[in-house]
Amino acid sequence: MDEVLNSQKTALDTRHQKMLIDGKWVDSASGETFEVCSPANLSTIATVPRGRDEDVRSAVSAAERAFPGWSRTAPRQRGRILQQIADKLELHVEEIAKILASESGNALRTQARPEALMVVDVFRYFGGLGSELKGETIPLGENILSYTRREPIGVVGAIIPWNAPTILAALKIAPALCAGNTMVLKTAEDAPLAVLKLAEICSGFLPDGVLNVLTGYGTEAGSALSADPRIRKMSFTGSTATGKVIMREAANRIVPVSLELGGKSPSIVFPDVNEDWAVEGISNAMRFTRQSQSCTAGSRLFLHEDIFDSFLEKLEANVSQLVIGDPLDETSDIGAIINEKQYNKVCGFIEDGLNNTDAKLVFGGMPPTEGLLSEGYFTMPTVFAKKDNKWRLSAEEIFGPVLVAIPWKDEDEVIRMANDSHYGLAAYVWSHDIGRALRTAHAVEAGWVQVNQGLGQAMGHSYGGTKQSGIGREFSLQGMLDSFTQTKNVTVNLMTNRDY
Ligand code: NAI
Ligand code: MG
Repeated sequence: MDEVLNSQKTALDTRHQKMLIDGKWVDSASGETFEVCSPANLSTIATVPRGRDEDVRSAVSAAERAFPGWSRTAPRQRGRILQQIADKLELHVEEIAKILASESGNALRTQARPEALMVVDVFRYFGGLGSELKGETIPLGENILSYTRREPIGVVGAIIPWNAPTILAALKIAPALCAGNTMVLKTAEDAPLAVLKLAEICSGFLPDGVLNVLTGYGTEAGSALSADPRIRKMSFTGSTATGKVIMREAANRIVPVSLELGGKSPSIVFPDVNEDWAVEGISNAMRFTRQSQSCTAGSRLFLHEDIFDSFLEKLEANVSQLVIGDPLDETSDIGAIINEKQYNKVCGFIEDGLNNTDAKLVFGGMPPTEGLLSEGYFTMPTVFAKKDNKWRLSAEEIFGPVLVAIPWKDEDEVIRMANDSHYGLAAYVWSHDIGRALRTAHAVEAGWVQVNQGLGQAMGHSYGGTKQSGIGREFSLQGMLDSFTQTKNVTVNLMTNRDY
């Protein structure tokens, strides 16, 4: 027990961190820093460099210098290095998980530890794919050899958010590097520490400059990175609003972008479903145990009118068992919202819901104003019921534990409502009637549909959005090939002089 407490203390100690440029740990050129706080108790847990243009320029220069050597390293050798990183990461899962829980507010047991374990999986998976960077031969005739090569693009700029920072970093670093690119990654200002730890482990195995990791604000380091003319590809995860800014910047230089953006994903429940079993899945799909700070959150619950009331009663009974508390406490299921801005935004949505006379509060409500939970940015799982899909709470991404329940009668009508969103990331369908379930899965506009489950991503699957939820796919070999390689076609005339 003492050991656990001591290691928790280490993860929480105030300390100054540096960023990784060209294999060295450095301060910002200006010497400026900013603080990283725990959203569970508002204490400062570290300071990090406030990177700006000049730091971005040196990081991109380092990545540019490292590119020729890294891109010519045999793909299987690059993969082997990623595998070695995975082995080393595995020894540090607990440390990374605790840093993650402290800075992000995500509960250790339900979120931070599984996230850290998955990071190992990501490096292992992409580390095994070096030999899959293969091209094709094109059958143009016996005397012509035409073949394609999957070549790396160059220096990749990566920008990530704070909600699952190490997994989102790993999903950019591992495939981009496996494919022979080098990278400059900007961490999220609210949760850079676990990613810096990940960078430290990576840098023990990678040549200098292959991976550079910066800390800094979006409008300073982030925009300098996306505007740097030497960046040949931008890979971004975050809000749709910022994704548009990144894409506009990339358009100036015709640079390809991968964008993993927001969502407002529907859960469609048919009346034949086993309710006790489905409530568990709906709660998972809503990601209540990550304070619903997930782009995949199934945040619009379309319940058939025959089961509307009974289902919500069962959902309340299920969700009320989740324990909200200190993210580092093993008994906590739910932690804290990342920062004051997001906390106020979530509270604003709850207030709107409470003030809307057509909406009914099913359970939850405004956060506690006294006791331990009032000392951090803790919110409660909250559900509103409303007859239609047309209000701010069911149109905008809340990124907090506020679920809206909407009744429906007719299959076509529910699909129309589900698709009435500018987002199209994930969807969840609940029915034991296979025809109905798959018809719905095909009709719903989303990059990823789950039938009768509300689980997280797994390596190898195709993950990404349609509509304003983004461009590109992650988590798979195909995603790596599409996002981090470019195709070159070489055509060779094999004819001898005699053949002319
Ligand atoms: P954001 O999209 O502004 O931040 C994500 C990353 O982009 C951070 O690293 C940030 O520093 C960077 N960034 C911000 N402005 C930039 C710019 N002009 N140029 C380059 N980089 C920039 O998201 P934020 O402010 O943290 O959260 C706002 C909302 O975004 C949330 O309420 C949620 O709705 C959505 N969001 C969605 C996420 C997802 O996984 N799809 C993750 C985080 C937020
Ligand atoms: Mg924070």
